[in-house]
Amino acid sequence: MTEILLRGRILTFRDEPLNGEASAETFTYIEDGGLLIRDGKIVAMDDYARLRAGEGASAEVTDHHPHLIMPGFIDCHIHFPQMQVVGSYAGALLEWLDRYTFVEEQKFSNQGHPERIASAFFDELIRHGTTTASVYCSVHRPSVHAFFSEAHRRNMRMVAGKVMMDRNAPPGLLDTPQSGYDDSKALIGEWHGKGRQLYAITPRFAPTSTPEQLEMSGALAREFSDMHVQTHLCENPAEIAFVAELFPWSRDYTQVYEHYELLGPKTLLGHCIHLSDAEVGTIANSGSIAVFCPTSNLFIGSGLFDLARLRASNVRNAIATDIGGGTSYSMLRTLDEGYKILNIQGQRYHPLRSFYQATLGNARALSLEGVVGSFAAGAEADCIVLDARATPAMRIRMETVETLVEELMLMQTMGDDRAIAEVYVAGRPAKSTLVK
Ligand code: GUN
Ligand code: ZN
Repeated sequence: MTEILLRGRILTFRDEPLNGEASAETFTYIEDGGLLIRDGKIVAMDDYARLRAGEGASAEVTDHHPHLIMPGFIDCHIHFPQMQVVGSYAGALLEWLDRYTFVEEQKFSNQGHPERIASAFFDELIRHGTTTASVYCSVHRPSVHAFFSEAHRRNMRMVAGKVMMDRNAPPGLLDTPQSGYDDSKALIGEWHGKGRQLYAITPRFAPTSTPEQLEMSGALAREFSDMHVQTHLCENPAEIAFVAELFPWSRDYTQVYEHYELLGPKTLLGHCIHLSDAEVGTIANSGSIAVFCPTSNLFIGSGLFDLARLRASNVRNAIATDIGGGTSYSMLRTLDEGYKILNIQGQRYHPLRSFYQATLGNARALSLEGVVGSFAAGAEADCIVLDARATPAMRIRMETVETLVEELMLMQTMGDDRAIAEVYVAGRPAKSTLVK
């Protein structure tokens, strides 16, 4: 049995703080807190002194004061084969895909490349405090194998899948309806439920799949009905026009996915920017999740995610980096850009809400509440230690910070990987132990 007791200022959410500071009942903040972890799971959270006097009497203590201990960040949409795409100079989505992304992803058929990038990818997630992610691999089965092998080795809770794409891309990136189905099924058998790994059925998006492939993706989703599905939806006007050409019978883009039975409470829809009212209704009725990717939407020039509109129609939502359309692995940078996108539309994004979203909110979006994203007893002990004084500029700004909410806002606005002082994955230190 391994038992540790983390001491520090602890913040974790129980529900969404819709009314900002007035929502005190939705979160727990303990100034001198203790978090007791046994065999990689949360056992108890309480005042440090009380835990030390009782259940945690014999645990090894690490004191993280004055830092803030929170559940690890969760990234609900990220492409592991796009580490070397970040910052590619392109205009809009389709040019960005053709000129850079599809070129880069072909390298994942090269011997040794997926393994090298997988190792770098997990180092980067850890460095930035992201302990769970929903991840697109490439079309090549070995890329998924490399990904899950590395995640399993590091004992990280991941959701990921082989991209299925059988048209409108270079030949080196195409599978077929049958091979996409067979490879996905084989990978599900190898990886789904192995340790902390979860498989996601991953048709890339409607423009790169034939009707036959979407049909077979839907068959997989029916066969494995507990499994996540992830894809892209309504990111860009030219993409939407292309879908209308390819699926002329469909009322709209969303109806393509609905038709092939790909929508549902475990379906993650990246972007969801340019939606008609009918599409918003279809997404809401299906319980699917609209995934907000702020840095990507700004970088690729896709548009402004309308969170208030989606919420008013009861569409569930999540937030994500979308590397390599996105420009940072940091969920702090992502929340900051999200704040700006909402602010420019006259919408408020209170820091308690944004930090809720990056933890418990995204766990709920992945149907993983109680597993990750909070310090509920029995949850997996993925934690981050946040340092609001990580840089000289943050340190001088902190001199005028008086409240927890102000501190969160500062970290979101000025923070990045430097503000992540330590990361625990299933109760083990993972950032301080990275090979530099
Ligand atoms: N749509 C289809 N594939 C992609 C991708 O890799 N990134 C983004 N941002 N949008 C996509
Ligand atoms: Zn994406």
